[in-house]
Amino acid sequence: MKTKQFFIFSFVLLVFGSLHAQKTPIYLDNTQPIELRVKDALSKMTLEEKVKLCTAQSKFSSHGVPRLGIPEIWMSDGPHGVRMEILWDSWGHAGWTNDSCTAFPALTCLAASWNPEMSALYGNAIGEEARYRRKDVLLGPGVNIYRTPLNGRNFEYLGEDPFLASKMVVPYIQGVQQNGVAACVKHYALNNQEKWRGHINVELSDRALYEIYLPAFKAAVVEGKVWSIMGSYNQIRGEYACHNNLTLNKILKGEWKFDGCVITDWGGAHDTKQSAFNGLDIEMGTWTNGFTSNKAFAYDDYFLAKPYLKMLKSGEIPVSNVDDKASRILRMIFRTAMNVNKPYGSLANEEHHNVGRKVGEEGIVLLQNTANLLPIDASKYKTIAVIGENATRKLTEGGGSSELKVKREVSPLQGLTEKFGAAKIKYAMGYASGEVAYDRVLKPKYNTDSLKAAAVKLATESDIVIFVGGLNKNTQQDSEGDDRRSMTLPFGQNELIAEIQKVNKNVVLVMLSGNAYEMPWIKQTTTLVQAWYIGSEAGHAIANVLSGEVNPSGKLPFTFPVKLADNSAHAFGAISYPGDSINQYYKDDILVGYRWHDTKKIAPQFPFGYGLSYTTFGYGKATADKKKMSSDETIEISVPVKNTGTVKGKEIVQLYVKDLKSTEMRPEKELKHFAKVELNPGEERLITFKLDKTALQFYSDVKKDWITEAGKFTVMIGASSRDIKAKVDFELQ
Ligand code: BGC
Repeated sequence: MKTKQFFIFSFVLLVFGSLHAQKTPIYLDNTQPIELRVKDALSKMTLEEKVKLCTAQSKFSSHGVPRLGIPEIWMSDGPHGVRMEILWDSWGHAGWTNDSCTAFPALTCLAASWNPEMSALYGNAIGEEARYRRKDVLLGPGVNIYRTPLNGRNFEYLGEDPFLASKMVVPYIQGVQQNGVAACVKHYALNNQEKWRGHINVELSDRALYEIYLPAFKAAVVEGKVWSIMGSYNQIRGEYACHNNLTLNKILKGEWKFDGCVITDWGGAHDTKQSAFNGLDIEMGTWTNGFTSNKAFAYDDYFLAKPYLKMLKSGEIPVSNVDDKASRILRMIFRTAMNVNKPYGSLANEEHHNVGRKVGEEGIVLLQNTANLLPIDASKYKTIAVIGENATRKLTEGGGSSELKVKREVSPLQGLTEKFGAAKIKYAMGYASGEVAYDRVLKPKYNTDSLKAAAVKLATESDIVIFVGGLNKNTQQDSEGDDRRSMTLPFGQNELIAEIQKVNKNVVLVMLSGNAYEMPWIKQTTTLVQAWYIGSEAGHAIANVLSGEVNPSGKLPFTFPVKLADNSAHAFGAISYPGDSINQYYKDDILVGYRWHDTKKIAPQFPFGYGLSYTTFGYGKATADKKKMSSDETIEISVPVKNTGTVKGKEIVQLYVKDLKSTEMRPEKELKHFAKVELNPGEERLITFKLDKTALQFYSDVKKDWITEAGKFTVMIGASSRDIKAKVDFELQ
C-alpha cells in the first residue's frame, strides 16, 4: 500500500472507531465502575422512565427501561427454595413444568445448626437455583426475632437471639449474591406476629429496637452488604414500615449507609408522599388484579406511579427524590440482571439436595435420650412402627409465600424405610389434620377415632415406635397470615402420644415444627428429637440421625417454655401480644426469650442453646488473657473442650456475658460468641473467643446511644444458656 493510501485508510479507521466508541454508552460498558454506569444511565432517562422503575409491572416483576435496553427485575420467594412461577396478575400458580426446585430446610433448622458454614452452603445453593430460574431478587432470608411461640412465621426466621441471627444471616446473603442474585432481607421491621400484621402499630423502646430487633438487619446490611431489603406490613410508631422515616431514612439509609433498594412487602405501601419521602424505592403488590381490573392498567395507579409522577411534575416532590430511588434500582440491576459475570446457576441437582440434607442433619436437635434408644440399632428389633401424619405429609406445600413445588421430597417414612428395611417397618397415620388451606381450617376426611385405634394397636404389636408429629404448614399452624391459637399440639396428638406411651416402652418422638409446643407427656418421654421442616431431604436427614450414621449436633435457636404464660410476650396481657387491634406495646422490652426466662427465673421446658449428642463433652477451666481491659482493647477468653465419649461429634460452645453492676437493667446473660467444633473421641481442643467493647454495651434510651460502662463482667461458657460449664471475671476500665 502506498503511503498516501495508507494514511487515508488509517484516518477512516480512526474516525469510524471513535464514532463507534462514542456509540457504546458508559452504562452498558461493564468494565466501568457501577457508580459511573448508574450516573450515565440516569442522565439518559426521562422523568417518566425514572418513575416507571419504582413500581411493579406484574405480580413478581418490576419495570426496566426498554428504550435503553435496561432489563426488568424478576423476583421470587424465598427463603427456603425458589417458589414456583406465579401468574402475571394474580397469586395463582402459572403451571409451568420447568420450575420444580430443591426445598432447603426452613430457617429455624439452619439457625439450629449454629454453623455459619452451613449458611454459606445454603445461600450459594439457593442462589444458584434462583439464578437458573432467572430471578434477580430472592425474597429472603427472614430475620424477625422469635418473640412468641404463636407467631405463624417463626419457621421462616433465625430464632430468638440477635447475635445468633446476625452470625447466621451474613454468609447466607453472601452465598446468594455471589450468583448475581440480590438477597432481600425481610421483614423490616418488627413483624413479629402474623395476627393483624397488615396494620398493627408497634410501640417499643429504642433499647429493645437497637438491642433485640435490629441487629440481624444491621449485620445483613453492614457485614452482608445485602442489595435489597423488604419493608414489613405493620406500623412502627405510627408510620407504616414500608415508608417509615425512623427505620428507613434515619437508621437503614442514614446510620447503616445502605446503598440498595427498599422493596415493599406485597401491598405494603399506603401513600404517595410518604412512599416518596420515607425511604421506599420499589412498590410491589399494591393491587393484585392488574390487567383484569376495571382501571386501564392498575400498575399505573400505584402510589409510586402516576400520582408520584404528577407530584414530581408539579414540583411538590423534587426530582432529586426520584433520582435517588432510580439510582438505587439501577445499581441493583447492574449488580444482578445486567451483571455479565454472573454464573448460569443450576436447579434441583444432587449437589443442592446434599446441601439440604447436610443442613438438616446439622440442625436436628436431640432433646432427650435417657433410655439410650438412640441411635437405633435395628438388629435389636423385629418390628418398627412409624406412626403419625407428618411421617408422610408433604411439608414443603402450604405455609404461605414460602410454599414450594419440589422435584423431590423424601418423607420421614421413606427415609426410615430405606434405612431400616421395608420388612421391619409398618405405618399408621394415627391422627389427621386436613388439607392445606390458607384462610380456613379444613376438617380431615378421616375417622379420627379409628386412626387412633389402629395406631395404638400397631404400637402394641411393635418392638419400637417412631412417632412423627408436630405442626404442619396449614393456617393457624406454621403458616403466614395468621398466628397459632395456642401452644398446644393440635389434632389430638397429646392424647395419642400418651396412649402409645402406655402400650410401648420404646417410643421415639420425632417432632416437625418451626415453633415450640407444650409437652404434657414429657415426664413419660425418654426420647425426643426436634427435626423442624427439612424439605427435600427430610427423610434421609432424619433417618441418618436416628440410625447414628450422623451424630446430632444442633441446638435450640429459641426457648421452649413449659406453657405460653411463661413466655415474655404473653406476660403483660393482650396489649403486649397481640395488641388491641390498633396498637401493641412490647412491654417485655429487651427481655425476650432466654433473656426473660433467666432474668425472671422462669424455668423453661428446654432452654435456648440446648441440644444433646451421641457422645459427651467435658469442659475445662476458662481463662482470660487479662484481668482488666480498656474500652479500646480486646480480651481473649479460652476454654478447653474435650470429647469424653466414644464417637466423633460436634459441640456448640457458647459464650454468654453478664454485666455485674450497671446503671440500667441488664439481662442475666447474653450470647456474645459461639463456636461449633468437631472432636474425635478423646480429642481436646482449646477454644478461644475474642471480645471487644461491643459485647459489653447496652443502648440507652436517655442518651440515644450505645453506652460502654466500666465495671465487672462475668463471662460464662456454656453447653446451653442454662448449662454453664465455666466462668471467668474481668473488669472493663
Ligand atoms: C409476604 C412476603 C413475600 C411476599 C411475596 C407477602 O405476603 O409477607 O414475605 O415475600 O408476600 O410473596
